[in-house]
Amino acid sequence: MRIGILGVGKLGLCFALNIEQKGFQVIGIDTNESYVNQLNNKSFYSFEPKVNELLRASKNFSISSNIELALENDINILFVMVATPSETDGSYNHAQIERVAEQLIKFGKREQTTHLVIGCTTMPGYCDSLARKLESCNYTVNYNPEFIAQGNIIENQKNPDQVLIGEANAEAGNAIVEVYEKMCENKPVYCRMSRLSAEIAKIATNCFLTTKISFANSIGDLAIKVGAEPEKILAAIGADSRIGNKYLQYGFGFGGPCFPRDNIALGHFAEQNGYELLISKATDSVNKKHLEFQFEDYMNNFSKENSIVFDGITYKKGSTLLDESQQLQLATLLANAGRKVIIKDVSKVVDEVRTIYGNLFEYEIV
Ligand SMILES: NC(=O)c1ccc[n+]([C@@H]2O[C@H](COP(=O)([O-])OP(=O)(O)OC[C@H]3O[C@@H](n4cnc5c(N)ncnc54)[C@H](O)[C@@H]3O)[C@@H](O)[C@H]2O)c1
Repeated sequence: MRIGILGVGKLGLCFALNIEQKGFQVIGIDTNESYVNQLNNKSFYSFEPKVNELLRASKNFSISSNIELALENDINILFVMVATPSETDGSYNHAQIERVAEQLIKFGKREQTTHLVIGCTTMPGYCDSLARKLESCNYTVNYNPEFIAQGNIIENQKNPDQVLIGEANAEAGNAIVEVYEKMCENKPVYCRMSRLSAEIAKIATNCFLTTKISFANSIGDLAIKVGAEPEKILAAIGADSRIGNKYLQYGFGFGGPCFPRDNIALGHFAEQNGYELLISKATDSVNKKHLEFQFEDYMNNFSKENSIVFDGITYKKGSTLLDESQQLQLATLLANAGRKVIIKDVSKVVDEVRTIYGNLFEYEIV
């Protein structure tokens, strides 16, 4: 079975390599030509675990910057994994998907129905509008987002708890299930529904997780304020099987490329539809308040003479991404307040932070 993937970036590349390893012929298309060359001659280096090994071992993965290669081939399922950056109002910008749609329309009507599977995070309702646009060219439009964590994408994709499918019809949904049944090494729950429901379910899942993290940090801050024990309190709460202890540890606020923006996007979508989703706003405010609390706590309780060491400055351990990193935000506040801050991380991250912040921090490469 041949599969096309449009957009082989952080997410798309891992997906391509995972399905290639399970026996699919994969044609990847990406507009970034120098990146395509690096993938083709296998000189690309990824910090994401297992990607380099899988890329070097791959035999049935061809990559091109020419979309016609994917469309001319006998492919009836095309995954779209281009970026959907956030707008200032919190909504997602779908311009890269629109560009793909323009190219598909330009290529003309498909002889056989082709299932387009949108893996990007989209605003609820977007995939329905895309479906209307592509219907006359014989495409179905389906929504199938991933729940993965940077630093563990390869394993997360092969072992998902749930596979969320917003399907155009049962045949398209079955084709997506077939891909996952071959790729997954566990037995995930298949959650099949309308595109709109799946788009809401994706960002609502992350809203729930940000709420859980914010709850844990609020209780932890309160505990510190009154001289109680955050970890022990949270361990007791998490021991209740109705709650569970995942994402219920006291620590830095949430950050990264998905959590903050999915939470805000859900609030924005609700507002656009005349519903005030208080939980999305509260979670975001708590995250900011927690940062203020941590800053004051360091300022009040750590002697000026001692340096403050950040062992990892990305939004979470194992990632090289600085997006919305609460660790970096706290380090910056402390350094700007005159504290000596030492940042320890891998060279890629240290170089990136040094380029932006120069001598504000001291650095150690680990
Ligand atoms: N990376 C994650 O951890 C993660 C997690 C969950 C969801 N997502 C979602 O997945 C989507 C992709 O994210 P990403 O992090 O992989 O983005 P990315 O920026 O790493 O990759 C996108 C790729 O698409 C390519 N591209 C752009 N326009 C194109 C076009 N017209 N045709 C072909 N290729 C094109 C780019 O060159 C780039 O390589 C986003 O919607 C994101 O929200 C990402």
